Amino acid sequence: MSTLETPAEMTLSRPTIDPGSRRSTAMLITGAGGEVGHGLISALHNRGVQNVVALDIRELPDLQREQCMETLVGDICDRSVLERLLAMFEITEIYHLAALLSTRAEFTPETAHDVNVGGTLNLLRLAAEQARSHGQRVKFIFPSSIAVYGLDTIEAKNDAGAVAEDAHLRPRTMYGCNKLYCEVLGRYYASYYRQLAQDRVHDLLDFRCVRYPGLISADTLPAGGTSDFAPEMVHAAAAGNPYACFVREDTRIPFMSMPDATDALLALAAAPQSNLCRRVYNIASFSPSAGELRELVLQHFPDAQITFEPDLARQGIVDSWPAALDDSAARKDWGFAPRHDLGAAFEEYLVPRIRARYS
Ligand code: SER
Repeated sequence: MSTLETPAEMTLSRPTIDPGSRRSTAMLITGAGGEVGHGLISALHNRGVQNVVALDIRELPDLQREQCMETLVGDICDRSVLERLLAMFEITEIYHLAALLSTRAEFTPETAHDVNVGGTLNLLRLAAEQARSHGQRVKFIFPSSIAVYGLDTIEAKNDAGAVAEDAHLRPRTMYGCNKLYCEVLGRYYASYYRQLAQDRVHDLLDFRCVRYPGLISADTLPAGGTSDFAPEMVHAAAAGNPYACFVREDTRIPFMSMPDATDALLALAAAPQSNLCRRVYNIASFSPSAGELRELVLQHFPDAQITFEPDLARQGIVDSWPAALDDSAARKDWGFAPRHDLGAAFEEYLVPRIRARYS
């Protein structure tokens, strides 16, 4: 048979290679020291998950380390780190969170590409190699972003309303380009990886993705994002610091609380595959303007000093993002139901925890 004829493809059966039975089964989290990683590790710990292996470029704080089975310091761009993981663990699930966010990426776009795309490619490859070695499909959970969208003008943004997954995919940032391409790569690895190879193994990866809106955590501050004005405003108010918001008062994008963000990742991961009609889902909870956020912050912290000093370049990025996301597919397919609307996010989550943090 010529190599161009349909190859005798293999189906995944356990095991294809000696699995090295002494490797322990693990769930891998990359970017574990970041905001979402912080929330996800604690959510998994609270659910009694004991086999989390955390990877980050920096040492994790003690509390997080104690919540993991193993923590590794290493760079996702360094293939030898990933080979070490392959040798040490049978990874059945990957939450690939490591990325350079949209503001930071604009200062070093090629480095951002290396980390956001090169790193993701390494992880997808690791997942495929893992699946081949232990004979089980690897679940690959990937947070994408509102940054994959690009609306050309404020009028277009206002007209667009709640944007659905397949519309307006014209990102203006390197981060948005990277996330959109990685969604496509995930789909490729899940459905077509090595599709012409004689020894192709089908169905190595179960790739699932959410597109996050801006996230607000009570426990951490984001670094290098363009939706950071919302969490920065709340944290500054609680800390008693003045805050100059870098977007206009009328700026509107969707947000959600960190507990809802991590719960959503876990809910998507747990959903029966037969319920999923897509690989990539929008999710969001509330869409206040920056001025409305200020009003709410002032209700809880009446002495807060919040002014608006728009940075035109960052404003341009936020203006290209939708004011709202259509997340009906996530609600229908896997029961996405955030517990915090804007009021509850402040009253039940942000304000009590942030007050305690800064008191
Ligand atoms: N929070 C991200 C950023 O601002 C967008 O998803 O870059």
